[in-house]
Amino acid sequence: MRATKVADWDDLEPLRPAHARVSNVDLAVIRLPRSSVSADDPTPATDAEATGSGDEVRVLFGRCQHRGALMSDATVEDGDRLVCGVHGSVYDARSGVNLYYEGEDLERFEAWVEDGGVWVDEDEIRAWERDHPQNFDRSAYQGSYADFEGTPEEPFNDRIHQLAEEGLTRVGHHGEVAAMGVPRDELPPGTTSRSSPPNSTGLPCSTTIRWAPAWWSAPTPAARWSWTSRSWSRT
Ligand code: FES
Repeated sequence: MRATKVADWDDLEPLRPAHARVSNVDLAVIRLPRSSVSADDPTPATDAEATGSGDEVRVLFGRCQHRGALMSDATVEDGDRLVCGVHGSVYDARSGVNLYYEGEDLERFEAWVEDGGVWVDEDEIRAWERDHPQNFDRSAYQGSYADFEGTPEEPFNDRIHQLAEEGLTRVGHHGEVAAMGVPRDELPPGTTSRSSPPNSTGLPCSTTIRWAPAWWSAPTPAARWSWTSRSWSRT
């Protein structure tokens, strides 16, 4: 047992989670008024007397099990519902139990109030960390707010983060250029196309659009493409 102080009791506002960290584990420190800790609390604390007010303290793992948002940014609603501010996951603020998704709970660590401080057992948290490594690089851009998991609904999440972190350093000052996504043989008459990559050289260039009534009657898609390509020229 290694007692480590994570907060001053008097600095904690009731029902307002505070952030703390032991090793690389983020924590949510929550002061719960007596009224929030009902008789049916499945995990009653033992420190109500020490606080002098009947209030109790909870120290939970401080990262949402959905996408890792900091639970110190969450809100406590209805006295005992800890609600993640990002997508609304809901936990029991007293126990850390996820109220809607079984098994997606926040670990509750032992905590107590003593000499005006909130204390935890650092050995317990470090042991938990060994089984649940935290990969956050606090000194890096986005450090504590890095999101390591994307979902199928957000296929470009990683790209957005990369651009936020690196700007255009990897894709050039024009940004990425993608094809229009229309098969060549389905392009309607009058559509123009480029025959070379975008001009990133800074050299002057021009484009000539040539209307060719016979273009659409070219014998093959390849021929249409070829005819179109020839109508574009660089000077
Ligand atoms: S990160 Fe908390 S609900 Fe999505």
